[in-house]
Amino acid sequence: MHTPSASAASDPRSSSSAWLTSWWKSAAIYQLYVRSFADGDGDGIGDLAGARAHLPYLAALGIDAIWFNPWYPSPMADAGYDISDYRSIDPVFGTLADADALIAEAHAHGIKIIIDVVPNHSSDRHPWFAAALAAGPGSAERSRFWFRPGRGVAGELPPNNWQSIFGGSAWTRVTEADGSPGEWYLHLFAPEQPDFNWGSTDVRRDFEDVLRFWFSRGVDGIRIDSAALNCKDPGLPDVSGSEPPGPAHPFMDRDEVHEIYQSWRAVADSYGGDEHGGRMLIGEVWLPDSSRLARYVGPGELHSVFNFPYLNCPWDAASLRQVIDSTMGLGAPATWVLSNHDADRVVSRYGRSDTAFDLDRRPYFHGFPVDLALGTRRARAAALLTMALPGAVYIYQGEELGLWEVQDIPDELRQDPIWARTLGADPGRDGSRVPLPWSGTEPPFGFSPAGAESDPWLPQPKEWRDLTVAAESANPDSMLRLYRAALRIRRSEPAFGETPLTWQPSADGVLAFDRHDAGGVEDREAGVTVRCIANLSAGPVGLPPHAGVLLASGPVHGGVLPPDTSVWLRIG
Ligand code: NOJ
Repeated sequence: MHTPSASAASDPRSSSSAWLTSWWKSAAIYQLYVRSFADGDGDGIGDLAGARAHLPYLAALGIDAIWFNPWYPSPMADAGYDISDYRSIDPVFGTLADADALIAEAHAHGIKIIIDVVPNHSSDRHPWFAAALAAGPGSAERSRFWFRPGRGVAGELPPNNWQSIFGGSAWTRVTEADGSPGEWYLHLFAPEQPDFNWGSTDVRRDFEDVLRFWFSRGVDGIRIDSAALNCKDPGLPDVSGSEPPGPAHPFMDRDEVHEIYQSWRAVADSYGGDEHGGRMLIGEVWLPDSSRLARYVGPGELHSVFNFPYLNCPWDAASLRQVIDSTMGLGAPATWVLSNHDADRVVSRYGRSDTAFDLDRRPYFHGFPVDLALGTRRARAAALLTMALPGAVYIYQGEELGLWEVQDIPDELRQDPIWARTLGADPGRDGSRVPLPWSGTEPPFGFSPAGAESDPWLPQPKEWRDLTVAAESANPDSMLRLYRAALRIRRSEPAFGETPLTWQPSADGVLAFDRHDAGGVEDREAGVTVRCIANLSAGPVGLPPHAGVLLASGPVHGGVLPPDTSVWLRIG
């Protein structure tokens, strides 16, 4: 068992009851993609033993919570987002006992645990789906999913025109027990991911029970996968393609979905009073309309949603300011997200001449050359901008090392079903999921133990020798050292508490805002202000009068902030 790190032990918040009640409002949350974080047993795939061994690294980084991507038993048709048992751990990752130990050890470090729950769909190996196939048309077992007869003379056509988000039809035809071609079932993602029917009481009850199962084991939060997709129009009408998400859309952001999350909130709230403090729910909701998004974080519903407009936003001051303002207007604690396991890594995005992102247009973005030095400089500036904003910040593993999107994975090694289902038209998400480099000068860079029998499940670029945790720990100018410093200041600086943001006048292409702590607590001074200035313009800008530089993402000399650089100043 690891002892709590100095950073967690000295964090005044971990013992304060206000922090415990609402830690998720301002936490720094590390997204741990378990397959690619650290391999403890040498099979080339990350696991819970690897994660446990590196808890001290995460504690020293200064994060408050870890979000684990799915760790459940899964045939891994979609890297674990096809779950066959929601109450256990896949053997490739470890055991339930390992998860219990991991949760306890993380708590001892002052780190909270968020896990992924996938309510829209299961795996085709889930016992309920096997039972549905066996029970046949019209059965209660089939009513937990969306089975329908096909169209056409002999049912040879899918029941409607819905397309899978991963490409191809959203329907697959089954063979009935007697060997005849049978009904079709709906899968908004891969065929191995049949959609649940949320009109089924069995489904609703079972998921509430799954939440209780994990909250009772000490889990502090749930990330809800594809949270806007659960409910379908039972008439399953064709889509025209022009209906916006919302009540008129047959499967995206339907109003009925809110009843589900209201009942989940009641489950979460029923655990709030124990020694672990508040339990939280965060939704993965991709919606362009912020008033529709706001409904998910309305009273009695989810605590927060991921800020995808921020992730997708180009490196442009006016656009970022608009997203920041609309986030602050959402009526819920903000989250700030620069990257995740579905999106291109931030260094690569900001190193292209089009710095926006959109999951649906990945091939377009991959068509641009990437200037890694420029992208890294901007990613450093973005890190300081992001960590100065009020709210919670999500850090996707490897972001703290400045890893880039690996766009040249050989085709035969690609694993993402998006690649296969689009017949190679979309490279998919493997490039953001390459195993982390920890140490050493060649692959597997300490990802797997010495003498491991298997290579990492995706190949690591040899250039990552300069981006290992060991190399970056020794380099004062590294991304890792910047993240550590920023997280330390963000945690200890009163101005970065639950204080609002106040925009300051700034030149075109520059973002400047203050965070001010009014003081007033006996042992604190009169009040402190920290100003964050991010220069996204093409030229240098002068710094205002200040009492000191707390942190800068690049060199700041002679009172001048260079392009693509951010700084935190103490004012007054
Ligand atoms: C969203 C997840 O983030 C993604 O990785 C997954 O493929 C889909 N949901 C389907 O579960």
